[in-house]
Amino acid sequence: WPFHAPLVHAINTLKKERNAVILAHNYQTPEIFHCVSDIVGDSLALARKAAQTDADVIVMAGVHFMAETAKILNPSKTVLMPDMRAGCSLADSITAADIRLLREAHPGVPVVTYVNTSAEVKAESDICCTSGNAVEIVESLDSDSVLFLPDEYLASWVATQTKKKIIKWKGHCEVHERFTGAELRDYRTRFKDLTIIAHPECPPEVLAEADFVGSTARMVEYVGEARPNRVLMVTECSMSDNVATEYPDVEFIRPCNLCPHMKRVSLSNILESLRTMEPKVEIDPTVADRARLAVERMLAVGR
Ligand code: 13P
Ligand code: SF4
Repeated sequence: WPFHAPLVHAINTLKKERNAVILAHNYQTPEIFHCVSDIVGDSLALARKAAQTDADVIVMAGVHFMAETAKILNPSKTVLMPDMRAGCSLADSITAADIRLLREAHPGVPVVTYVNTSAEVKAESDICCTSGNAVEIVESLDSDSVLFLPDEYLASWVATQTKKKIIKWKGHCEVHERFTGAELRDYRTRFKDLTIIAHPECPPEVLAEADFVGSTARMVEYVGEARPNRVLMVTECSMSDNVATEYPDVEFIRPCNLCPHMKRVSLSNILESLRTMEPKVEIDPTVADRARLAVERMLAVGR
């Protein structure tokens, strides 16, 4: 922490000068999450707050698709992404051309895309969703079948929560797909009285072992409400670090997987992007206009 102090001070000073806000996803490292962020949360909260901010500059301490969503909702603002290489295996798993082919194969079926997609993919979609509102979004559609893209495992989980027919794609989160059911069963035998809460991007065999399944924000809420003695959060590593500071009475058992994309953002490159006002996220306005419809339809459904 002492080594972070000069960077934290410099970022917070420059942030005021630039009238900037820093949005940090729940998977950000604690020094970013706790010391320089103005808004923290899951993908849904970040999208909502990005739509409401009156700052001139938005710095995304998350990954590229989150910065694009902020830009889609704030076309006149400057959106900075401290490391443009911070991608996402889900966003990389599907293209706009794939969506057009799926529409031809399933005429009339609405297309729901996870926010973990590019602006071009959002532009081809009817409505977006996050893991926090996926079921509500699917239920809001006036159709018995829904194309739910691109996360196969999130789609499988949504299918367990609705009567609608869910048509899937083969995208996976490279972080959550690595957990296994056997690993969790092993933790249950080693730690008595263990509560397991898992993100719906995990494979079905992992979710079958969980006491609760939800988005990162819902996992945080669950810990706050249930106050388990011992909890294992089946998700990205920084989640437990961030939540543990709020609940010292809860023991966090920490097998976890790192998201290499989230970890590309650091205090150093946040400061550098505020100094240089680069790299900026830019989206072709015709793509952004179409993508905005899908994101705004999602925000109108609520959570
Ligand atoms: P949520 O924060 O919306 O649950 O998303 C998890 C995730 O993997 C974001 O990249
Ligand atoms: Fe993408 Fe998974 Fe990383 Fe989230 S945790 S940014 S879904 S690769």
